[in-house]
Amino acid sequence: MAKTTAAITAVGKYLPEYILTNQELETMVDTNDEWITSRTGIKERRILKEENAGTSYMAIRAAEDLLKKGDINPEEIDLVIVATATPDMLVASTAVYTATKIGAINAFAYDLQAACSSFLYGMSTAASYIESGRYKKVLLIGADKMSSIIDYKDRATCIIFGDGAGAALFEPNHEGLGLQDEYLRSDGIGRDFLKINAGGSILPSSEETIKNRQHFVHQEGKTVFKFAVSKMADVSEKILERNNLTKDEVNWLVPHQANKRIIEATANRIGISNDKVMMNIHRYGNTTSATLGLLLADYEKELKKGDNLIFAAFGGGFTWGATYLKWAYNR
Ligand code: UT7
Repeated sequence: MAKTTAAITAVGKYLPEYILTNQELETMVDTNDEWITSRTGIKERRILKEENAGTSYMAIRAAEDLLKKGDINPEEIDLVIVATATPDMLVASTAVYTATKIGAINAFAYDLQAACSSFLYGMSTAASYIESGRYKKVLLIGADKMSSIIDYKDRATCIIFGDGAGAALFEPNHEGLGLQDEYLRSDGIGRDFLKINAGGSILPSSEETIKNRQHFVHQEGKTVFKFAVSKMADVSEKILERNNLTKDEVNWLVPHQANKRIIEATANRIGISNDKVMMNIHRYGNTTSATLGLLLADYEKELKKGDNLIFAAFGGGFTWGATYLKWAYNR
């Protein structure tokens, strides 16, 4: 019998309605559209404004979009993973609530956190369960409400991030399609450069931490930028090399959307032209765990069965990696 691979068989997305433009940011902090556009490529991002709505609000809607488009019965889903850096709350899993709300009553569920590499790592987890034969339908949702952890007085971070959710369903494939290879890395040296100082077990919340604005994302942008450029390009190059893929055989680069300049540097290193690079950072900013799922949903109509996709991501921790996947269906 042919080897079982793990293929993506359906995708879905959700974006909040509210659009935060560069022009509106100009009224909030000392910045301007020209700086944001030239340094990041971002023009606007979505912000979840609904009251009492957390990350699960978006994860549920992305999953429902996938179920509807793929005509999938949620009761057949075995596992729901929510990749997120902004869970609804600590301890009680966002994925568990999401699974129940979408009617995945026969599934178990858990959250996965690896900052901006959460979706990429989640692809590895989802694919492993399928390849092992243990489960048949694994739903991976990347979702983040970044606006809940961003300081809208800090111009170095508030211009970058946005909210959103993207989902992908993994199922067994016997035609050799789906995930082919991955090269995933991490290095704790990165912990000081991109983090939230308070609210975790080292520095629990207190009046002091709130007064000091320690519950917001803090990033040393320049350092993260340098690591991101070199590491994302390194792993992308490596995954091509070890799969004997030439640049012409790559149909799409699917890069984490943190900064247009990082994406272009990665594409240049492996010699991929702009028309083969998936990009939506100008519309959504950096949605952390949601970027790769959102790209797949936005570009789904253009993807063809057998297309070679190279995913690459870099994020806090540091965490990074690249994955080679063969697309499994025509829409
Ligand atoms: O997804 C997770 C991983 N994250 C990333 O990959 C993000 C990596 N980092 C970046 O994308 C970039 O470093 C940023 C977009 C965050 C910043 O761009 P940069 O080109 O590295 O700018 P910088 O931080 O070196 O700042 C350059 C100047 C500074 O002014 P001085 O010191 O030269 O006078 C900043 O104070 O730009 C200033 N600046 C701004 N000016 C206008 C910083 N933020 C802003 C702003 N508007 N929003």
